Amino acid sequence: MNEGELLSRVDRSKLPRHVAIIMDGNGRWASGRGLLRSAGHSAGVKTLKKILTTAVNLELEALTVYAFSTENWKRPLAEVDFLMHLFSEYLEREKREMHEKNVRIRFLGRTEDFSPLIQSQMRDAVELMKNNTGVKFNIAADYGGQDEIIRATQKLARKVSIGEIPAENITAEIFERELDTAGQPPVDLLIRTSGDMRLSNFLLWQG
Ligand code: IPE
Ligand code: IPE
Ligand code: MG
Repeated sequence: MNEGELLSRVDRSKLPRHVAIIMDGNGRWASGRGLLRSAGHSAGVKTLKKILTTAVNLELEALTVYAFSTENWKRPLAEVDFLMHLFSEYLEREKREMHEKNVRIRFLGRTEDFSPLIQSQMRDAVELMKNNTGVKFNIAADYGGQDEIIRATQKLARKVSIGEIPAENITAEIFERELDTAGQPPVDLLIRTSGDMRLSNFLLWQG
C-alpha cells in the first residue's frame, strides 16, 4: 500500500492533536549497519523530512521533535560540530518548502550558544513562517525540560520583582505562559525511536 492509500484510510477523528518525538537511536542504527554515527544522523534528517510531510498531510495541529538536548553539548566535539552543520543545512534547505506547506516553525530551548549563523537562520525561519496557519512544527534544540522550567521561573521572578504580578498569584496557567511551549496544544502522543523508555529531560512540565 502506498502512502496516499494509507493516508486515505486514517480516521481523522481519532488523530492525536500534538505528536512529540524523541529522535533517538541514530548512532545504534548506523553502527548496526557498519556505518559511522554521522550517517545515522544524516538518515535521521531524511526521516524527519518524511515525518513532517506526513504531519502536513494528516493536518496534525502540532509536531514537536527533540533534535538536540542541553546535555548533548557533552558529546565529542566532532559529533557536536557535525550535528550543528546538519541543523544549519536542514534549515537552509527545507525552510522554503516548509513555508509553502503553510508550516509554522518554532524553536524550543536556548539559542545563545548556537553560532551566529545558526541563530540568524533560526530567526529567519521563524520570521518567514510567522503568519502561517498549518502544522505547528516545534524543533527542540539546545532544549532541556529543567532549563525551560528554570528560564520560565526567571522570567516570572523578574515580573514579581518589578511588581507586575504578586508572587501569590502565580498559578500553573500563568507559569505555562512563560514556557517555550506556550500556546501549544498538550502533547497526546510521545514517541521515542530507538526503543529506550526515558524522557532524557524532554518536556518535563508538559508530561
Ligand atoms: C539521537 O541519536 C540524535 C541526537 C541525540 C542528536 P543518538 O545519537 O543518541 O543515537 P544513539 O542513541 O547513540 O543510538
Ligand atoms: C535524547 O537522546 C536527546 C535527543 C534525542 C535529542 P540522548 O541519546 O541524548 O539521550 P540519553 O543520553 O540516551 O538519555
Ligand atoms: Mg541516544
